[in-house]
Amino acid sequence: MFDVVDFQRRRRGKLGEELYCFERLESTNLTAEKLARNGIAEGTLVIAGTQTAGRGRKGRVWHSPPGVNLYCSLILRPRAQDLVYLPFLAGLAVVRSLKSFGLETDLKWPNDVLVNGKKICGVLIHTSMEENVLRFAVIGCGININETAFPAELETVATSILLETGASVSREAVLASFLLEFEKMYETVHDLDWRDFCRLLEQHSTMLRGCAVQIDQKDTIIEGTTQGLDAYGGLIVETKTGPRAVYAGEITACRKK
Ligand code: BTN
Repeated sequence: MFDVVDFQRRRRGKLGEELYCFERLESTNLTAEKLARNGIAEGTLVIAGTQTAGRGRKGRVWHSPPGVNLYCSLILRPRAQDLVYLPFLAGLAVVRSLKSFGLETDLKWPNDVLVNGKKICGVLIHTSMEENVLRFAVIGCGININETAFPAELETVATSILLETGASVSREAVLASFLLEFEKMYETVHDLDWRDFCRLLEQHSTMLRGCAVQIDQKDTIIEGTTQGLDAYGGLIVETKTGPRAVYAGEITACRKK
């Protein structure tokens, strides 16, 4: 069981002060979206010990076995102009948090966190607009913590803190640290300069610039060399026919040039 008392003891800052903790949910994002629609306060966090239909990007299911990993969704009510930062803030907060647990990470656009080429964290963001006004954003985050045996189809692509460091760590401690890292950046997001922020992201990603990539989209594959992010968070790829900004898809191959 996730130990709420222990988590609240470790937590600093405001995010997660309001906490909805469930043993089992279909998806923490789904529950958080419902709560947010009903007007719940910014900073409220939903966590589950396991998810029966955890949502991943591109309609995939997020592997969510009980008790070992972290499945959480944070409700925010950001200003529309700060929205572009959110996916990257979440990834960066995980990077900073995992560093404090001894892990060197690599950010994979848009917001996967990798360790030794394998995925340790995925982020899924849902936003709600009404009459052109941003009502809320839900930041769903899955971090693999103490899992030791992934299903065969994930074995070569997924990892956990325990598998990488040999040490089992407290989910409560990882969550408290992730939230604090997120909050520090979120509070100052309106002072950030996008270009400076991109440079910061590039320091934590081998893939954002100068990488020969293949990006899988629904019906096409885009090939080229990465050239950083545009003003909307799209990945700029120099292709044979010129530069293209890519807003959706998945990097399936990457070689540093
Ligand atoms: C991805 O495919 O990389 C994104 C995965 C996001 C998974 C997390 S687990 C907690 C939250 N609830 C969900 O249903 N999904 C996100």
